[in-house]
Amino acid sequence: MLKKIGVIGGGNIGGVLIQEIVRRGLAGCVGLVDILPPELAKGKCLDIAEGTPIIASDVKLVAGKEYSVLAGADMVINTAGVPRKPRPDGTIPSREELLVTNLKITDQVADGIKKHCPGAIIISIANPLDAIVYHLYRKLGHPKAKILGMAGVLDSSRYRYFVAEAAGVSVESVEALVLGGHGDDMVPIRSCCRIAGMPVEKFLSTESLDAIEKRTRGAGAEVVKLLGSGSAFASPAWAALAMAEAIAHDRKKILACCALLEGEYGVDRLFVGVPCILGAGGIERIIEADLNEAERVAFQKSVASVTSTCAEVDKLAP
Ligand code: NAD
Ligand code: LAC
Repeated sequence: MLKKIGVIGGGNIGGVLIQEIVRRGLAGCVGLVDILPPELAKGKCLDIAEGTPIIASDVKLVAGKEYSVLAGADMVINTAGVPRKPRPDGTIPSREELLVTNLKITDQVADGIKKHCPGAIIISIANPLDAIVYHLYRKLGHPKAKILGMAGVLDSSRYRYFVAEAAGVSVESVEALVLGGHGDDMVPIRSCCRIAGMPVEKFLSTESLDAIEKRTRGAGAEVVKLLGSGSAFASPAWAALAMAEAIAHDRKKILACCALLEGEYGVDRLFVGVPCILGAGGIERIIEADLNEAERVAFQKSVASVTSTCAEVDKLAP
C-alpha cells in the first residue's frame, strides 16, 4: 500500500479516482487538489470520508485548493485539464485542440508537484495526453521511469470490449494492445490480439476487425457525442488505477503506457504509448512488440502526430 496518493483535479475522472482509491485501500491517505470554488475538492472528500464507515475504509483524505495537500505523496495522478465537448454544430474536436488551454493548467500542475512532492511517481491523464506528459517531463526533469501517461490501458480496454462483444466471449478472455499516441491515429495491434491465447482472426472476420478497430480509434469521441458535456470518466479512472495498482503492489504487470522512448521502436526522445512492465519503480522495462509492416507504418504515422503536437508545445512553451 502506498503512503499517500495525490490526485490533481477533482472533476469527473478525479471524483472516481478518489472514491476507488478509498474503496480499494490503495494508499493510507489520498490528497485531492482542485482550484474550483467554492471548495469542490473539500466537498467531494468530505462526502467520501463520511461514507468510509459504510465501506469499512480507514483511508484518510485531505483536500483543498492549495497544492500543499499533495505534500508527501509518493504517487500523483494528474487529471487537471478541460475535457472535450461537442462544438455548437455537434462535431467533436480533436484532443489536440485542448493543447493551449491545458498547457497553461499543466504549468500550475508542474509547479505544485515540484514544490510539494518532487519525488512522486506521476501518472498523467489530461489531454492531449502524450504532449501533456512531455510538457510535465520538460518542466520537472523527472526520471523517465517515474513519469507515465494513461491512455493505452483505456484504448486497449475499449478494443478488448468491442472484440469480446463481437465474438460473444467474456472480456476476460480477450487480450489486446493499442499503441502509439492517444489520438485519432492510435494503433490497435491486431497481431497481438488473442482470445484465450488464440489469434483473434479465428473468431472474427477481417471486415469485423476493421470496423472494431475504427470504432476503437473513435471511441472517445463517441462517448463525448453521447454525453454532450464532457468525456469518458469511469473507464479512464479505472485504467489509471490499473497502472497505479501495478506500481503500488510491484506486480511487474505489462500494460500499454505513454512512456519516454530513447531509441525503442526507432523513436528517440518522445513520449508515446508502448507496452511497459510496471512495478514498484514505475516503468521497469519497455517491451518492443513485434509489429507487422502495416502496424509499423501505422505506428510511425501516430508517432508523427505526437511529434507535431510536441513541436507545438515547444513553440508555445519554449
Ligand atoms: P473535468 O473538467 O471533469 O475535471 C477537471 C478538473 O480539473 C476540474 O474540476 C477543474 O477544476 C480542475 N482543474 C483545472 N485546472 C486546475 C489546476 N490548475 N489545478 C487543479 N485542478 C484544476 O474533466 P475530466 O472529465 O475529469 O477530464 C480531465 C482531463 O482528462 C481532460 O483533459 C480530458 O480530456 C482528459 N481525459 C483523458 C483521457 C485519457 O485516456 N488520457 C480519458 C478521458 C479524459
Ligand atoms: C477523450 C478521451 C478518451 O478525449 O481521451 O475522449
